[in-house]
Amino acid sequence: MFDARLFRESAESVTAQLEHQLADASIRGLELIDPDILDRAARGLMTPERDRIAAFDEKRLAAIVDLYVRTGIQVHSPGYLGRQFSGVVPLAGIVDFVGSVVNQPSSFYEAGQLPNVAERIMAEELNRFIGWEPESFAMVTTSGGSLANLTALLAARNKRFPDYWSQGGGALAGRSRPAIAVGADVHYSVSRAAGVMGIGDEQLVRLPLDREQRICLDRARGALEDAERRGLEVFCLVASAGTTSVGAFDPIDGLADLAREKGLWLHVDGAHGASLLVSDELRGKLAGIAKADSLTWDAHKMMFVPAPCTLLFYRDRRDAPGAFRQQASYVFDDKPDAYTALDSGDKNFECTKRPMIMPLWALWSIHGRALFAEKIEYLCRLTADIHTILLDEPDFEPLHRPEANILCFRHLPAGLAESDVHRLQLDIRNRLKRQGNFFISKVDIDGVAALRVVLMNHRITTEHFRMLLGEIRRAGYDLRHRANGRETGSDSE
Ligand SMILES: Cc1ncc(COP(=O)(O)O)c(C=O)c1O
Repeated sequence: MFDARLFRESAESVTAQLEHQLADASIRGLELIDPDILDRAARGLMTPERDRIAAFDEKRLAAIVDLYVRTGIQVHSPGYLGRQFSGVVPLAGIVDFVGSVVNQPSSFYEAGQLPNVAERIMAEELNRFIGWEPESFAMVTTSGGSLANLTALLAARNKRFPDYWSQGGGALAGRSRPAIAVGADVHYSVSRAAGVMGIGDEQLVRLPLDREQRICLDRARGALEDAERRGLEVFCLVASAGTTSVGAFDPIDGLADLAREKGLWLHVDGAHGASLLVSDELRGKLAGIAKADSLTWDAHKMMFVPAPCTLLFYRDRRDAPGAFRQQASYVFDDKPDAYTALDSGDKNFECTKRPMIMPLWALWSIHGRALFAEKIEYLCRLTADIHTILLDEPDFEPLHRPEANILCFRHLPAGLAESDVHRLQLDIRNRLKRQGNFFISKVDIDGVAALRVVLMNHRITTEHFRMLLGEIRRAGYDLRHRANGRETGSDSE
């Protein structure tokens, strides 16, 4: 099993399978399979040998890879318009594959020397677009944006309540209850992080949104003051740079001024949209980012590398160790030397952490910034174009002007009763998912379901979008004219 030649031969045949997959530009979304049938297919690939090590079986490996590839959302096809994970740049997968073989976890310099240096380089490269003092900012990688949000909120909480880590809730005696201000449409990972930290739902101050689904600056101050009157001590304000549902960008500049005036930590959840910073055309969406205290940036979304690859930035590097305050002599040194100074194990939740920076750094090294900027710009332009297409279709209603590459809309065929709008969108989405040509998602907007496309794949053109509209129309027609017209089926949000 450890034979080097066998390794090369199997890698060659697997890459040939992947080449076939990547070269296929046909329109495919997801082949949705009954879990029991898939379970049987997967079990059918397992060796019956129980006692001895079974010999390598090339056919079995090929069948495992084939099943793996075939049953996934087809992220490289123009039929994939549904979610925020990327149709990755294939080369990034090669570097990820190297990481899986050489196995260099990256929380500690000695275990992953190049990944740790690459983290430092990418931090400097990307900070050029954020604009913090090169000498005083910090960056750690985390396994996903959800974990980055939790980590930043912990750092913010521990800064405001310095005894919280040692005393827990006892540190709050005689003080108001800690609270976090968020936009009403914040990603669930932020409210989940609050829950993990013992900050209840009632301690989340939900700031009202404007018509574009962004935090309404004019009403934010009043909402904060109202929270104070209710006995809450807001210590952090979370702005979204690209909300999940519609891709709206909160007004960071104005919120940063408000946060500074009120003494709040400003965390920007840029899991989706921070990547726009690398584009000269689009950077303005995050105007004011240099005034934030921390920023979550998912490279596995708009920088087209395999998940997870998240970068959590702090404006002030002294804040980075604030999230976790622990001793562990088997990994942490009291007096770091030139090597252990690069360790991040004390600043990120994970002990063993994938060297997730490597695919990103390799792409950046080989192709440079323009690879990312051009792809992001294409996707955002395409989203604006499909918005224009929708405006001309009487039976479709776009629900917002897209700010990035996410667009929500509804199909409203003539004669549809208002009470049926919600159900029809859900049924259409499920029908499309089962048909398998296009993969789109759905979200409730103001309590009513909408269809949602996220353009993550540069193979998509406006022609594909018109084909999608045709498929939606046909699905809508069938659903409305069927005798007992209700689709059923689960939907995984
Ligand atoms: C705005 C926003 N924040 C956070 C997250 C969570 O990121 P991750 O899926 O990397 O944990 C997402 C994921 O879609 C997101 O859209």
